[in-house]
Parts: sequence; C-alpha cells; structure tokens
Amino acid sequence: MIASLDTTPSDDLGVPAAQRRSAELERQIRERPGRFRALTGDRPTGRLHLGHYFGTLHNRVRLQNLGVDMMVLVADYQVLTDRDVADRLAERVEDLVLDYLAIGIDPRRATIFTHSAIPALNQLLLPFLSLVSVAELSRNPTVKDEITHSRQSAVSGLMFTYPVHQAADILFCKAGLVPVGQDQLPHLEVARTVARRFNKRYGAASEPVFPEPEALLSAAPLLLGTDGAKMSKSRGNAITLAATADETARLIRGAKTDAERHITYDPADRPEVSSLVLLAALCLGRDPHEVAEEIGGRGAAVLKSVVTDAVNGYFAPIRARRAELTRDRTHIRRVLRDGNERAAAVADATLGEVRAAMNGVYY
Ligand code: TRP
Repeated sequence: MIASLDTTPSDDLGVPAAQRRSAELERQIRERPGRFRALTGDRPTGRLHLGHYFGTLHNRVRLQNLGVDMMVLVADYQVLTDRDVADRLAERVEDLVLDYLAIGIDPRRATIFTHSAIPALNQLLLPFLSLVSVAELSRNPTVKDEITHSRQSAVSGLMFTYPVHQAADILFCKAGLVPVGQDQLPHLEVARTVARRFNKRYGAASEPVFPEPEALLSAAPLLLGTDGAKMSKSRGNAITLAATADETARLIRGAKTDAERHITYDPADRPEVSSLVLLAALCLGRDPHEVAEEIGGRGAAVLKSVVTDAVNGYFAPIRARRAELTRDRTHIRRVLRDGNERAAAVADATLGEVRAAMNGVYY
C-alpha cells in the first residue's frame, strides 16, 4: 500500500552538511574504530584507475588499518543497470579483486564479496521495494544522470530500482558507515529512508532492526583524466593501477596541458596543469603549490617527467604485488569464497530478523 508510505522528504543532507558530519564521524572513528562497520563497493566494469585510488580506495585501506570492520562489495548485479550485457564479467570481477588485494585490502581483516553469491542480501530487495514509491525512485538525481548516459536500448526496471538494491547492500550487514563520493549521496538517502520506514513499520520502537547508515565523504580532490575531463573508465583517459611504467609514461606524455610555460597550481583557472601537479603531489605526499613552484619556468615537459616518476615510484610496489597475485588464481578464488561465506552468514542472520519482524516465519 504505497499510499500509506510516509514519503515526506527527510531533512535533506546537502553536501556541506554531509562534509561536516563526516568530519565528526572521523573523530569518532579515531576514538573507537572497532565500533564501526563500513560497507562500500564498486561495479566490476573494468580496471580501477588512479582517480579511484586517490578518491576512495586509499581511504578504505586507511579505515581498515585503523581497525574499522570493512565490507567490500564487488557489485556484480549492479553492472546490469547501465548496459544490456555484462561483458566478460568473470574476468572483470577477478581484476577488481586483484586491484583490492594489490592496494592493501587484507582479506583476513576485510570481507570481499559479490552480490550474486549472497541470496539473502538479494531477498531483502523485495520487502525493501515495498517501502519506496515509484515517484521517489524516478526522482533520484544519480539515476536520472545515469539514464542520460546509459548504454541500454531502454531503461530497465533494474535501473530504477538499483538504489533500493544498494540499500540492501548496506543494510544486510547493518553498516553504519558508507565511504562514498558525493554522487552516491542520493543512494545513501534511499538506504536511510528504507531503514527508517522498515523500523517504523515492523520494528519494536525500543529495538530498531536497522541502524541508519551515514555517508563518510573523504576530502579527496578530483583528479582529471589525460584529456582534462573527469578520469573515467569509459572515456579512455584514465591511468589504471595495473598500467606498466611505460604505459604510464606514454599516457602522461600525451596529457593535455596549456599554452603557459610557467607551472602553477591553480585548479580553477588551469585545470589540466593543476591536475598533473596534484597527481605528483599526492604520490609524493607533498603540497601541490610547492611541487608547482619547484618546476616553475621549466615547463610542461619537466612537469610530465616529474609526474611520471612520482606515479611510477608510488605504484611500483602495488603493481609488483598485483603482478605476483595474478599468477595465483586459486588464491583469488579462495579470497572470494571466504568473503562470500562470511557475508552470506551475516545476510542470513539479518534476513532471519527481517522475517521475524514481518511475522514471516511459519515453520
Ligand atoms: N553504486 C556504486 C558505484 O557505482 C557501487 C556500489 C554498489 C556501492 N553498492 C554499494 C557503493 C553500496 C556503496 C555502498 O560506484
């Protein structure tokens, strides 16, 4: 009965509010990291790149190392939202797991798992869908944007409902933290709404079934691709984690700069040059203004060689580990099997609670 849904918009968390809240959460994490479970994930649509690395991957490893219980989802069913066929899925899943392990996600501490192996997670989608109206689904700005850029011949039902599936990703393990980028904030609102409505409709007031998850925005700066547009798998402007040193050098050599010889760090007016400076600074752990100043009048060619050396230096150990792991497919499969087993046990327990709360246990 959709009509009975409480669809009054929740106090919409704008980006500045989410950033303030994230800073407060960071403080609490540093105090008691063991109190937190975080869930995040990626669609297995291709190899991860440096934009992903400095945007979110690095942050996951940091949280894991602080002692946060990390759940890392390979969102293999979500791949089907924006394309008709999930191309070379097995290979892409393996690539994603390799990237995770290479950057330092530790499968003894973190749980790496896939949608398709967790039946109880997927089953949560059905009761959750009953808590959201079609009008709400069609208002989601991230979904609207994806529909515009979609590679599907028609908008599928999954496209409209995947934010609710994503709510199941987050709620099945009762994750309190979701480290994400700003584009995911509307999805997080859906997860919060589902949690609240489920608790209200089925939960005892004293004991809500689901905590309301919160976004953890990182202060990560945006890296541009080699053509000056946002770094993205589909634009062909990305440097992947797995790229060789030579490929990296070639890509950076071809990167767009501007006509001014003197190198400065000025993201608003000189986005391409500044993004290269930033990339070097991130790899070197230095201030971008300083990096730019040192290069100064020596121009774009010197900038590019500084960036290339910085990237290749920083990623050499990650790439070496990745290459080594590539040789041991059984290890990758074992990581996924273990992660899936752990995630499935958590999902079964939550589904049990959900069914009990809905009076749906008949035997
Ligand atoms: N939608 C995310 C993306 O495209 C991937 C994702 C799936 C995710 N499920 C999630 C992220 C749950 C955070 C939480 O990048």
